[in-house]
Amino acid sequence: MGDLMEFEGKTAVVTGGAGGIGRGLAHALLTRGAHVVIADVEETAVASAIGELSQLGSVRGMVTDVADEDSVVALADSVYEVEGACDLLFANAGVTSGGGGLPWEQEVNDWRWCFSVNVIGLAATVLTFLPRMLAAGTPGEVITTSSGDGGVAPVPYASVYAASKAAVSCFTESVAHQLRTAQAPVNAHVFYPGGGLLDTGLWTAARNRPAALERVRPRPPAPGTTFAEFKAQLEAAGLPADVVDLNWLGMRVLEDLDEGRYILGPDADRFGGLLHARADAIAEGKLPPTLLH
Ligand SMILES: NC(=O)c1ccc[n+]([C@@H]2O[C@H](COP(=O)([O-])OP(=O)(O)OC[C@H]3O[C@@H](n4cnc5c(N)ncnc54)[C@H](O)[C@@H]3O)[C@@H](O)[C@H]2O)c1
Repeated sequence: MGDLMEFEGKTAVVTGGAGGIGRGLAHALLTRGAHVVIADVEETAVASAIGELSQLGSVRGMVTDVADEDSVVALADSVYEVEGACDLLFANAGVTSGGGGLPWEQEVNDWRWCFSVNVIGLAATVLTFLPRMLAAGTPGEVITTSSGDGGVAPVPYASVYAASKAAVSCFTESVAHQLRTAQAPVNAHVFYPGGGLLDTGLWTAARNRPAALERVRPRPPAPGTTFAEFKAQLEAAGLPADVVDLNWLGMRVLEDLDEGRYILGPDADRFGGLLHARADAIAEGKLPPTLLH
């Protein structure tokens, strides 16, 4: 293991940092002495996160909608004016159009909303911040939050979300290669949240869905689409259902950065077997196994 990464005095921007995994990241960053800017679309969640996390260190919030490029530019302008730098960028905000279901029962508005946040919003975040980070000429890290679902293999009943996260993983890999080729002082990393069940607001992501992108044909949620139902289903099937401490997960990401890893999060070693099986199937021209195998 190399030297530990220095977080003390560094500025970290965390999109989607007011809740769930992003808040765990903010918690970990504050614990290691970074100054954190939480950028999140949910105003009340930003206020409550700042209220609690400011006991740990220096943190400020800015209501930001990553799906709105102007809002992301306003965030970057504010960060470079107030903090003067962004050393660590966590492009973490994400949603799932949820409800499960057959791929051909999803609506174009499900694709529009999910992609507007997970793909266009994440791209806008990186495209807005990374050139400024490079212009600063100082060491930096860009971390995108993907998912094993799509980033590694799809969960077929979450087709839209999986496709969006495949895009995140592919985009991040391209960025990381190009930064390396350019011998830039900034690195890119992809984060796969995991380690067990994640009891986050992703299960109720529709709370932030814009009215203009509502489903045209509303349908009742499929069984197993609340966190409690999902956990109960796993327990009934005798499968592991341990809930992850999100502050621990945030610390784990920083430890993986310490080690200079490209892939962040506790599940990388679990992906190997599945990816070998996928590679074998692809080489034989067969349908590769999903994340559920
Ligand atoms: N929960 C899981 O099981 C899981 C697994 C793998 C990956 N992820 C990914 O982790 C990331 C965080 O999700 P989470 O599980 O913590 O869910 P969450 O809903 O608890 O957190 C997401 C945060 O993003 C914010 N957000 C939503 N739309 C936004 C927008 N347009 N602009 C700015 N902020 C916005 C929400 O207000 C929320 O605070 C997402 O990218 C998600 O896809 C989650």
